[in-house]
Amino acid sequence: MENPEQPPLFRIPEVDTPSDLRETKPADYGTFKDSLRAPVHSWFRYPAGFSYRFVDAMIDRFGIDRGDWIYDPFSGTGTTLIGSKQQGINGYGVEAHSFVHWVASVKLFWEFDPTALADEVGRILAQAREYVHLRRGGALPAGAFPELVYKCYHPDTLYQLFLLREYVQQGIPDNHLRDLAQLALTDTLRTAAAAGTGWPYIAPNKNTGDKPARDALGLFAKTLTKMAADLTKLPATSAECEIRNVLGDSRQRQALDDGQIGLALTSPPYLNNYDYADRTRLETYFWGITKTWKDITEQFRDKLMVAATTQVVRKRHDVETALSEEVRSVDEHVYTAVQKAVIELSSLRLKKGGKKDYDLMVALYFNDMLLVLQETYRVLRAGGRFCVVLGDSAPYGVYVPTHDLVGKLGLGLGFRRFDYEEFRTRGDKWKANPQRHRVQLREGVVILQK
Ligand SMILES: C[S@@+](CC[C@H](N)C(=O)[O-])C[C@H]1O[C@@H](n2cnc3c(N)ncnc32)[C@H](O)[C@@H]1O
Repeated sequence: MENPEQPPLFRIPEVDTPSDLRETKPADYGTFKDSLRAPVHSWFRYPAGFSYRFVDAMIDRFGIDRGDWIYDPFSGTGTTLIGSKQQGINGYGVEAHSFVHWVASVKLFWEFDPTALADEVGRILAQAREYVHLRRGGALPAGAFPELVYKCYHPDTLYQLFLLREYVQQGIPDNHLRDLAQLALTDTLRTAAAAGTGWPYIAPNKNTGDKPARDALGLFAKTLTKMAADLTKLPATSAECEIRNVLGDSRQRQALDDGQIGLALTSPPYLNNYDYADRTRLETYFWGITKTWKDITEQFRDKLMVAATTQVVRKRHDVETALSEEVRSVDEHVYTAVQKAVIELSSLRLKKGGKKDYDLMVALYFNDMLLVLQETYRVLRAGGRFCVVLGDSAPYGVYVPTHDLVGKLGLGLGFRRFDYEEFRTRGDKWKANPQRHRVQLREGVVILQK
């Protein structure tokens, strides 16, 4: 780094954690609301995440203790693994999306030297400030980012973000500190944006430059400081357990023994056409990990279980045979119910403008879920529970009771009991939209007992 300035004395401030004071209603167990207010959990806004309090509640309810193992086959940004680590319980999580997996790995590294952390973060912030100030008045090189990134920011904000990216990538020799700063800057991408960045649902508006520039440096400093403050408050018991955050595919066999797991707990992709690969488009474009839709497909989309039509390659399947024979052999009734929806959707789609591949999406979703249920059954101990937070769905208005079908597949695989506990009804905010179906959707937890 040029001009490494002697950093001013830096203290990590006391940061309030209001989440400790509020309760989480079961209606919000399927959402990331409380996690957004909680230390460490809040380091990345993942709309697909779920409630950390739900994880705590299940650990308590099923008497899981030190020495036990918890398994999350869709571990995402790490809510279950963080909950396990906080309680000193062993955790094994699998996530197939490499960027999301990296986020979880940063959130799960707590082994900084607490006495040195304040100085180190102070030094990073002083150097970042100097790096940006020395280059004031400069300009972003042409083609620094894919077009979409330019649409999201005031040019001055984007130039600051660009400089911060350079500093973070080149100026922090320690891997773990660099990761921490990289995650802080990743969070800043959303807070510093001038356009709506909530895709895949909200496309970014064209940024006309009439909104004032945001102070990206200040936002980055605030976030990194908050992260450092969180790290000073973590329980020491976390050191007594083993946490394995695996980049992999939970449809495949895991490095776990038969019966090793005391509690499996997860929120899989719902059957609702949410494109997880697209959720991190801004982040992966910004960091230069991807540049195009094709890159995103190859690096992420193709690696995930099917839950969105963007993952379906129509010519590879036939609606009559897409739903696997394995599903039929596990439960004939589930097979018949799913296949009925598939056939209905295959003719309905032809009458719709978008001609979405919901038919194949539904078939492939259940094929994939069956593989995950099978592997989870293998690794669970007798009596152990598999808690699956799920929403049902109604593509083109065809109701698919996902929770019930998944529960029945579980019974077909040998689980001895299946319960469903509802959290809330969903989809009400779309009621006013005449294009939308009128089916009342729900979200809850399927609890399978081995
Ligand atoms: C609903 S999210 C889980 C979020 C998680 N509970 C959290 O708190 O961040 C589902 C996750 O499953 C991941 N996923 C999809 N297919 C997968 C697969 N075959 N193996 C492992 N993870 C997968 C997605 O990338 C996504 O992060």
